[in-house]
Amino acid sequence: MHTDIRGHSLTTDSKEAAADFSTAIDMFTQRQVDVVPVLQKSIDSDPQFTMAQATFGLMLHGARNANLKANMQSALTQAKVAYSHSTRREQQYVDALECACNGDLFAMVACYENILNDHPTDLLALNLAQGELFWLGEMQHSNRLSDMAMPHWNENIPGYSEYLSVRAFDLEETNQFLEAEKAGKQSVALRSTNIWGAHAVAHVFLMQGRHREGLEWLSSKQDNWSNTNQMKFHIWWHQCLFHLERKEHDAVLEHYDRWVRNRSDALMVAMPDLYIDMQNGSSMLWRLEHAGVSTGNRWQEMAELAARRIDDMNSTFTSAHYAVIFAATGQFELCAKLIANMQSFAQSNNHTLAKRYADAAIPAAIGAVAHRKGDYQQTLEAMLPARNHFWQMGGSHAQQDLFHQILVDAAVKLKQKDTAALLLQEIEARGFTEPTRNVAYQAAGKLVH
Ligand SMILES: [Fe+2]
Repeated sequence: MHTDIRGHSLTTDSKEAAADFSTAIDMFTQRQVDVVPVLQKSIDSDPQFTMAQATFGLMLHGARNANLKANMQSALTQAKVAYSHSTRREQQYVDALECACNGDLFAMVACYENILNDHPTDLLALNLAQGELFWLGEMQHSNRLSDMAMPHWNENIPGYSEYLSVRAFDLEETNQFLEAEKAGKQSVALRSTNIWGAHAVAHVFLMQGRHREGLEWLSSKQDNWSNTNQMKFHIWWHQCLFHLERKEHDAVLEHYDRWVRNRSDALMVAMPDLYIDMQNGSSMLWRLEHAGVSTGNRWQEMAELAARRIDDMNSTFTSAHYAVIFAATGQFELCAKLIANMQSFAQSNNHTLAKRYADAAIPAAIGAVAHRKGDYQQTLEAMLPARNHFWQMGGSHAQQDLFHQILVDAAVKLKQKDTAALLLQEIEARGFTEPTRNVAYQAAGKLVH
């Protein structure tokens, strides 16, 4: 029996397995690259180390890729070998993996909650819970978890910077911007490479329309993240958003090609269709075009990747983005096939995401496709009744805003002043300060006033 850096028991006789596992968890919570090889080293040292096996499976789940389902199931089988000899905390991780394999994502979150009730400084559970709840759109729930853990954390506990960054993002997504900025900045002050903390602060700047500050904040830190995973591409997406608001379109395109969708980057070579990267790319191209900027043939590479995953229903928000991608390349037959796959998934099983596809992702996809066809009436018909469910696709307010931009643009194109005014009010209520000052909503602002 060994312990991790925060004193949680690890059921393994192998010192090497415990040390590598602890390193992998530090790397994961710090959004570093190459977590899985270190985890694999831990497993190689002790194949019956339940915690490492379960965590390996949970990392695979985190990729939200149907092609990894068999490997997840295999990790679950391995994790169960020494289940009865493991601690209750470790068993809950195995249970969480089993829930993930069964598509019961709220039961999965409940496992993390059980762990955090008994072990509030279990940073892995806190991170995994936030990740899961984020992609379910349940950030109030995530906020409760990090809030409940707060009295148990202080600067003397290893990982405090990472705790603060989780806390900062929960605060930001629940519109507690002042506290979010403070926690995020503190997390970065404690560890300058804390990309998750810097990201939370970037969100605050975006929501509050503080674009110059956001640009300064991010551009002064972009050199800190050389050892960071795909999160660094997402944070370049954020920098592009600030440039876009300042009408610095050349900078957006340059950063897009170099960072957001650079197919030559080693991380993107290894996993070109990672869900977050596909979301970043398609969302940025749509916004650029909406701002009147030509994007050339940049949609094409994503369309080819999305076509290979057209029946992958592991991420509602990504599926909706696939519709945006196929429509942008004029492949409306693929749009129809994708939407049929989404409908079939939504109707035919009890996976947690099924209802979310039905309530949010399918109408979002139908609306986005209709918008590209110029059928703005159909966009309104699909999206208006569903707009207050879009949060169920997960993603941040900033990310979800893409689909609200599509909806508002349809209302503008149809000169539906009252609808546009209502939608703008709702966008402000979601936390955006004076949305008509943002480039995407300037036309709506003119129509309404
Ligand atoms: Fe973000």
